[in-house]
Amino acid sequence: MFQNGFGAARKPLNEPDSVYLFSYNANGLRFAWSTDKTNWTPIGDGYIYLKCDYSRWGSEKKMIAPYLIQGRKGIWECIWQLNDRTLQFAQAGSADLVNWGPQAYPYVKQSKNVLRPVISYNKIADSYTVVYTDANGKYFQTTTKDLKVYTPIVPVPASAYRDHSITANINGETKGQLHRVAWPLVDGLIKAYELQQYKSKQNSEITKDDVQRFAGLKTVEAKLTLQPEKAKAISTMLTGVFFEDLNYAADGGLYAELVQNRDFEYAPGDKQFRDKKWTADYAWSIKGDASFTIDSVSSLNINNPHYAVLDVKTSGAALVNSGYDAIAIKKGETYNFSAFLKQLSGANGPLQVSLVSDKAGVLAKADISAPSSGWGQIKASLVASGTAADVRLELQPLNTGHVAIDMVSLFPAATFKNHPNGLRADLAQAIADIHPRFVRFPGGCLSHGDGLKNIYRWKSSIGPLEARVPDRNQWNYHQTKGLGYFEYFQFCEDIGAEPVPVIAAGVSCQNSGTGGGGQQGGIPMSEMPQYTQDIIDLVEYANGGVNTTWGKKRAEAGHPAPFNLKYIGIGNEDQITEVFKERFTYIYKALHKAHPEITIIGTAGPFFEGTDYVEGWKIATNLKVPLIDEHYYQPPGWFINNQDFYDSYDRGKSKVYLGEYAASLPGGNKSYWETSLAEALYLTALERNGDVVSMASYAPLLAREGHTQWNPDLIYFNATDVKPTTGYYIQQLYGQNAGDHYIPAAITVTNKDAAVKKHIAWSVVRESKTNDLVIKLVNFLPVSVTSTIDLNGVKPVDGKATKTVLAGNPADKTVRPVVSETTLVDGGTIELPPYSFTVLRLTAK
Ligand code: AHR
Repeated sequence: MFQNGFGAARKPLNEPDSVYLFSYNANGLRFAWSTDKTNWTPIGDGYIYLKCDYSRWGSEKKMIAPYLIQGRKGIWECIWQLNDRTLQFAQAGSADLVNWGPQAYPYVKQSKNVLRPVISYNKIADSYTVVYTDANGKYFQTTTKDLKVYTPIVPVPASAYRDHSITANINGETKGQLHRVAWPLVDGLIKAYELQQYKSKQNSEITKDDVQRFAGLKTVEAKLTLQPEKAKAISTMLTGVFFEDLNYAADGGLYAELVQNRDFEYAPGDKQFRDKKWTADYAWSIKGDASFTIDSVSSLNINNPHYAVLDVKTSGAALVNSGYDAIAIKKGETYNFSAFLKQLSGANGPLQVSLVSDKAGVLAKADISAPSSGWGQIKASLVASGTAADVRLELQPLNTGHVAIDMVSLFPAATFKNHPNGLRADLAQAIADIHPRFVRFPGGCLSHGDGLKNIYRWKSSIGPLEARVPDRNQWNYHQTKGLGYFEYFQFCEDIGAEPVPVIAAGVSCQNSGTGGGGQQGGIPMSEMPQYTQDIIDLVEYANGGVNTTWGKKRAEAGHPAPFNLKYIGIGNEDQITEVFKERFTYIYKALHKAHPEITIIGTAGPFFEGTDYVEGWKIATNLKVPLIDEHYYQPPGWFINNQDFYDSYDRGKSKVYLGEYAASLPGGNKSYWETSLAEALYLTALERNGDVVSMASYAPLLAREGHTQWNPDLIYFNATDVKPTTGYYIQQLYGQNAGDHYIPAAITVTNKDAAVKKHIAWSVVRESKTNDLVIKLVNFLPVSVTSTIDLNGVKPVDGKATKTVLAGNPADKTVRPVVSETTLVDGGTIELPPYSFTVLRLTAK
C-alpha cells in the first residue's frame, strides 16, 4: 500500500476484486476498507461522504447512529437519528456512496422520540422496513416501498429490532456496518476524496504565496487580439444588487427612520431569548419624574398590539428614544416627527418634542397639540439648529397624567428622492451609483425565514405603517416592515433597476431552528392554494390596473402607474427535498399559468455543487424554469481556478442568475483588494458567459458597523458615513461599463506557465446604443503585464480612451479608481500594474 500526494490511502498494487467496507459515523458518514475485517484503512483523511442537513447550523445538524444498507438494485440507503426529541428520522440514498440524493426526514406519529433507527430491505417483498427504539425502551416499525410513503408506525417486540452493526478498530473502537463490495466502489470513494483535496488546495491559493508561486517572474507580455466578427449578444441585466435586511440593512440602515423600536414591538423572541434587555421598551428610557409601562389592552392596530403608557407625575418628564446608536442630525435639515397618542387620564395637553444632544443641548423643539380623544396622530417638522451625532428624541407631555404612545417616528425630510417614509439618501445614492440593472429583495434567508411563521409575507409589508406586521428578523433583530414591498418597488423605479422579489417556495430556511425541523415544516399542501394566490396577487399589486383589488392598493399608496414587475424568484438556496419539490412545482405551475409574462427564477441550493445544486437543476430542467438562482461564497482561489465554470453550461437549458457570490478570505471573512480583484476577474468570465448567465449580484450589500452578522459586505456604514469597500468599485465599474455584445479576444502570453495565464483575465463588450467598446483587463500577478491590444479594425474616436485603474497591495482596503484619458491606437500597448483592474472605454468611429 502507498500514500498519494495528499496522504490518502491508495489501493494495493495488486488490487483485490472485492474488499470489506466499513461505514461509520464521525460527524457524518465515513468509510474504511479491509481485506481481512481486522486491519482497516480509513478512506479520506477526515473526509465526510454524507452530512446531515437538518435544522439549525452547528450542533443541531447532527448525524447520530447512521445505518447503511444496500437496497433495491444495489442502491445504498442510509438512515440516522436526528436528535433525542424529534419524531422524525433521516434518510438518503446513493448509487456510489459519493453522490447522495436528497435527504428526507419522515415523520413518525407514535413513540416518544426516534432513537437508533435501523433499516432492512426485503428482496421478495421489494420493500424496506425501519425499526427504531425510543426513550421509553419501546420498539416501533414502519415499512415503505419507495422511501417516500411509509406505513403507519406500529409497536413491535424488541426482537424485531435487528441491528447488524459490528465494532471495528478505526483509531479506536468504532461501531458501524460491514459490507462486502467490489473494489471499484472503494476506488471511487478514494478518488472523490483525492479530487476534493486537489480542488481545495487549488482554491486555497492566496497572494501571500505569490512570492514563491511566481518566484523570478519578470514583466509579462500579453497580446490581445479582438475578434469583432465573433461578437455574441449577452445579457443587458448582468449586474445588479442583492438587498437583504441583514446587518441592520433595512431598519437602522437604508430605511431612513431614525427612531428605534418605534412600534414598541421588540420582543425577546426576536433574539431567540438570548438578550434579556431586548423587550418592548428597548431603546426607550425616562427622563424626570415619570415612568412607563408597555400595554396592549387598547391597541392602535391589531398588527401592532403594544404601546407605551407614560405616567407623568411632574411635568417636565419625558419619554426618550436613543435611536440606532443615537440619532445623527445635520444643521439646517428638517426632520419630520410623528406619533400616535391617546390621553388615558389627566388633562389633555400638548406634547413637546425635542432633539437633544448630550454635548450641544436642544437642537430642535416643537409643541404639538394632542388629539382630543382616542388614538390620533400628531406631526411636527423640526429644523436642526446644529449638527450632532449623539442626539436623542424626547417626548414631553406638558401636563401630568397617563398618555398612551405608539408609532413614534422621526425621518429626515431629505430622504432619497424626498419620498415620505423614504430611504436614507446617502446609502440609496451609493446603491444607485453602482448602476444596478436589478435589485433583489428582501433576501436571502430573510425571504424564507426561520420557521414557517417567519416566512416574509409581502402583504404584511404594505399599507399604513401602523397596520404592517412587524416580525422577528431571522438575523436576530426586529423588522418593522416600514421598508416594505411598496418602498422596494419605488426604489427600483427611482434608480432604473428591475425589481426582483424573492419569495419562499412554501418552505422555510433549511437552517431554521424555530417551529419544527428545518425545511420539513413545509406549508401544508391544503394551505398552498392561498399561499400561491398571495404570490399571484403580488403581480396584480405591482402591475394591475387601479381598478383591480391589489392595483388599487398600490394607487392608494401613491403610485397609480404600474411598477412593471417582470421577475419573481421562488425559493432561496433551499435544500431540495420532496417537501420543497412539491411546493415549488405547485407555485411554479400556478404562477406561470396566471402570469406567463413573469420570468420565474428557481433555486439551486446554497453551493456550486452537491445534492441541492444537482436536484435544483433537475427541477429547473424538467419544468423549463427560465432562470435558476445559484449561490456561492468562496475564497479568491476558487474564483481564479473556476473561471471556466459556465463555459460548458448547456445554452439550451435554464439561464443562470448568480444571486449571491462573494470572495472572502478565511480568518474573519474580510474583504480586501485581493478578494475584490478575484471578483473582478470572475466577472470577466461572467461577461464572457453573458449568453447563459443573465444576472449576477454580489452579496450581501449593506452592513451597519457594530451590527454586522455577516462579513464581508459591499458597503459598510454608520449613522453618519457610508464606507464603500474596494469590491464596491468593482461592481460599480461593471455596472457603468456594461455591454450588450461580447467581443471574443484571443490572447497570447509570452510566459507559457499555465498559472501565469490563469492570473490574467480580460473581457471586451460593446454597448450598441453608444457604439462604445469596453475592454476590461485583470492582472492578478505580482508583476506588471505589458499588453498589446490589436483592435482589429476598431477605430477609437480621436484615438482616445478613458482609462480607469484600480491597483494596489492585495491586503489593501483603500484601493480606489483612478481615471485618466489615454491614447489607444491599434496595436498600441498598455501597462497593467501588478494586482490591478483596468477598464478602457472608447467610442468606436
Ligand atoms: O447573504 C447572506 C446569506 O447568505 C443569505 O441570506 C443567504 O441566502 C445566504 O446563505
